Amino acid sequence: MSTQLREIIEGLSQEQKTISPKFFYDERGSRLFDKITELPEYYLTDAELEIMQNNIDEMAALIGKTASLIEFGSGSSLKTRILLENLADLAAYVPVDISEEHLFSSARQIRAEFPGIDVRPVVADFTRPFALPSPTIMPIKNVVYFPGSTIGNFKHETAMDLLRVMHDEAGDGGALLIGVDLQKDPDIIDSAYNDSAGVTAEFNLNMLRHLNKSYDANFDLDAFEHSATYDEDEGRVVIELVSQADQTFEIGNKEFAMTDGETILTEYSHKYTLEGFAQMASEAGFRVEKVWTDASGLFSVQYCIRN
Ligand code: SAH
Ligand code: AVI
Repeated sequence: MSTQLREIIEGLSQEQKTISPKFFYDERGSRLFDKITELPEYYLTDAELEIMQNNIDEMAALIGKTASLIEFGSGSSLKTRILLENLADLAAYVPVDISEEHLFSSARQIRAEFPGIDVRPVVADFTRPFALPSPTIMPIKNVVYFPGSTIGNFKHETAMDLLRVMHDEAGDGGALLIGVDLQKDPDIIDSAYNDSAGVTAEFNLNMLRHLNKSYDANFDLDAFEHSATYDEDEGRVVIELVSQADQTFEIGNKEFAMTDGETILTEYSHKYTLEGFAQMASEAGFRVEKVWTDASGLFSVQYCIRN
């Protein structure tokens, strides 16, 4: 049995059935995520793009010359293009993502747009140990780029583990440039995860379609509904699939039963305070050198230097 299938079965065997959000991202899931970023309600992408565009000179000066840019969860590398256009003599751009086809097609496009940049895609689950390619040009420093507030999709302990991995990857003199979504009016957050076009619902349900296709499961997609609620006390959106009936399903030759109304937890999306994130960065061995926010104070991009 593959590690991934074992992980899915373990998650479904818990009292609160859980499947990791990394299983959203097959090719269709990556395309649905791109559609989410274009939704009027999904403020995160517009806010982060605004921050990147308005502060790119300062970011480029902090990153400096001949850096190696290592991006975790690169997706379509949308915001990265602003960095690639403005960084001098990049030693390499290393996008890391679990969604193989999507990663390779994005990397092909980046190569065509930036023929002077050494683009080295790595297919990996970044929550498990993985190897990075050795660069042809020796970088002056490594800068780990983690946009989109993907850090928010991990529970505190796992987020801390990831920050520590990024601290190691940054190496001596290295840094982390990270997108961090902020706590705000709950109605704004609620709409972002319950869009009127239903794309987030489709994205959530796509996880079951992906498991049916790639892990030989037999989920009935019509028997589940999307749910996303913002828990203000915990500062996180809880995203679930709600069973619409008493039902059973199979995966990896194991049968699971669900009652009407029972849920599968598919994702958390944590929203932070600036102080809360600074504390996490500091515990992982980083000093927050600079924080940029958009004009409405919805989102932040932070440059964290490795201690
Ligand atoms: N950085 C992009 C995409 C964010 S979506 C942006 O800001 O718009 C999250 C991305 O992380 C997806 O491309 C997904 O495939 C990838 N991802 C999620 N979990 C992952 C994991 N455990 N390992 C590697 N990539 C992962
Ligand atoms: C990738 N990640 C930061 C997104 C988020 O907002 O937490 C995933 C997502 N889930 C539903 N909509 C978007």
